[in-house]
Amino acid sequence: MPDKKSYYITTPIYYPSNKLHIGNAYTTVLADAMARFKRLTGFEVFFLTGTDEHGQKIERKAAASGKEPQTFVDEIVAWIKDLWKRLDISYDDFIRTTEQRHYRIVQQIFTRFYEQGDIYKGTYEGWYCVPCEAYWQERQLQDEKNCPDCGRPVELITEEAYFFRMSRYADRLLKHIESHPQFILPASRKNEMVNNFLKPGLEDLCVSRTSLGWGIPVPFEPEHIIYVWLDALSNYITALGYGGEDGGKMTRFWPADLQLIGKDILRFHTIYWPIFLMALDLPLPETVFGHGWLMLDEGKMSKSKGNVVDPMVLSARYGSDAVRYFLLREISMGQDGIYSLEALVKRINTDLANDLGNLVSRTLTMVERYFDGILPAPAGPPAENDLELQQLALQTPREMERCMDELKTNEALAELWKLVRRSNKYIDQNSPWDLAKDPAGGERLGTVLYHLVESIRFIGVLVGPFMPHLPERIWRQIGLHGEAGAGICDWAGLQRWGQLKPGTAVRREEDLFPRLNLGRELHRDPGAEKAAGEGPAKAKKVVEPAGAGKKEEQAGLITIDQFARVDLRAVTVIAAAPVDGADKLLRLTVDLGAAGERQVVAGIAPQYRPEELPGRQVLYVANLKPVKLRGLLSQGMLLAAEDEQGKLALATLDQPLAPGSRVR
Ligand code: MSP
Repeated sequence: MPDKKSYYITTPIYYPSNKLHIGNAYTTVLADAMARFKRLTGFEVFFLTGTDEHGQKIERKAAASGKEPQTFVDEIVAWIKDLWKRLDISYDDFIRTTEQRHYRIVQQIFTRFYEQGDIYKGTYEGWYCVPCEAYWQERQLQDEKNCPDCGRPVELITEEAYFFRMSRYADRLLKHIESHPQFILPASRKNEMVNNFLKPGLEDLCVSRTSLGWGIPVPFEPEHIIYVWLDALSNYITALGYGGEDGGKMTRFWPADLQLIGKDILRFHTIYWPIFLMALDLPLPETVFGHGWLMLDEGKMSKSKGNVVDPMVLSARYGSDAVRYFLLREISMGQDGIYSLEALVKRINTDLANDLGNLVSRTLTMVERYFDGILPAPAGPPAENDLELQQLALQTPREMERCMDELKTNEALAELWKLVRRSNKYIDQNSPWDLAKDPAGGERLGTVLYHLVESIRFIGVLVGPFMPHLPERIWRQIGLHGEAGAGICDWAGLQRWGQLKPGTAVRREEDLFPRLNLGRELHRDPGAEKAAGEGPAKAKKVVEPAGAGKKEEQAGLITIDQFARVDLRAVTVIAAAPVDGADKLLRLTVDLGAAGERQVVAGIAPQYRPEELPGRQVLYVANLKPVKLRGLLSQGMLLAAEDEQGKLALATLDQPLAPGSRVR
């Protein structure tokens, strides 16, 4: 057995009743960043995710699509596994509740509970919410008829059922919660659980149903099906081989260090789950963390509202690293966060393209230009700003580790970006281009560039848990690919400054993150394609990745027929106004002559004030599929040129023409 410390981290197991959305992906990306960070810092990690495949919801959805439940879930599970691959989720095991290794042990657990008197038979009468798979008491219902969690109508159910005597363990659980402040996090959620569920007196939990077909049968009375939460929660130990002959990985990994879940399923994980564990004589997990929800500007994401954001489409377009960075940086751990395409594109442009991408490209361009691509040696005593940069680089890993131990990925990344920004400032402070002109500046120039590349080495290591593809892309450019990086591209390599070997060949490659045109991205909004009913597989075909394409497209060639498909027109701007809450957008009304007026939402506000636009003739694409931006219909697109600095100029005519004139 290695002498490494173990770390067991779990995500909820997802319902394969639908394809997953960006909110589910958030939980998993968060867990993955933690798992990778722990591996980096020397832990032996076991990272578990999986799918929760039983229950009425799945049974009904399968029936509605004319499939057997198993066939139905197999298809969605394949999609989920593909999604995790695309998002670089480094799970060690993927458990499915329909697998034998789980199924068998859940039956064993049920029998044990029954034999030790924790489970008894009674009659269940209560209100059941099918989508949430939760039973409610009458007093808990919203408007006396709806589920207090999702607001949908509940069903009255009376049937013979098995119950778990929760009350037996309630005091022990309360004591555990009070004496282990890190058991339920964030702390605010702990009070909610204690005051709403434990203190008023814990009711026994119904753990079987006879009206269910799709699930695990009670072994000694198979017309009873084990109610989903006892089945689902057990996954965290069945995946470790609990109940097997040698106990499997239980000795090494149980109790779990971190069970990450969304706040909506906290009750199941901090009340029922620990009680089941107590009944099995097993220790409780160290921490159950209920994170906040990812919302949209207009509120909750939901399949029924048709406003879910598809993580598969987003990662196909922006890459897994960028999507992961956004989720981990934008949302404060524990709180609700907002997803918007605008915020994602802004993060890509500012943090990734401007800050990090420019640091790497500026530095390597200078090493190529001034030292023929060979890393110079630092020379002479370090200047004050050299020491500052060194100190910050050495202290960043520790700061990030502290943030990660508090599960604050956003703060860990903010710490890392202090180093990225400090390095950019270091370039400006030392003006290498002036040193290059100074005949006596050679030594100093070498020192400055060495410091920058060494700082990039630190950044390359630290960014890995969050953006797993990036380190390799950086190592290739700074000559640390493969063997060359052994021992210095890891956590131990960050304990000392100056480990890069002078004389290493560096080579600037393509930009790490090309800048995106916000207006254009908002127009082609991958979300809008999904809203138009495209499934992920189809959408993959229409959403080409930013910065890639077919060979001819890369060479910039199209046929005349392809060009002719674009309906270009001259239009006259009639009115222009700002768009609430979107600094970059203007809402324009344009005159298209015989075709009437159109509304266009354009990302030109940084360059144009609304009052200077009416009366101008501009070029316009008339046959773009309309989309909604910030809730406003945008029909077509204005043409504008944009330079490297992001300065925009609208394409106009050099003499007036009738509105609606064709551009050929
Ligand atoms: N199958 C149960 C979990 C059983 S664990 C033993 C379940 N599945 S789920 O697919 O509905 O939800 C899985 C997770 O996704 C939950 O943690 C839930 O909180 C999370 N999210 C669902 N919508 C979300 C957002 N909009 N934002 C963030 N997380 C969200 O519950």
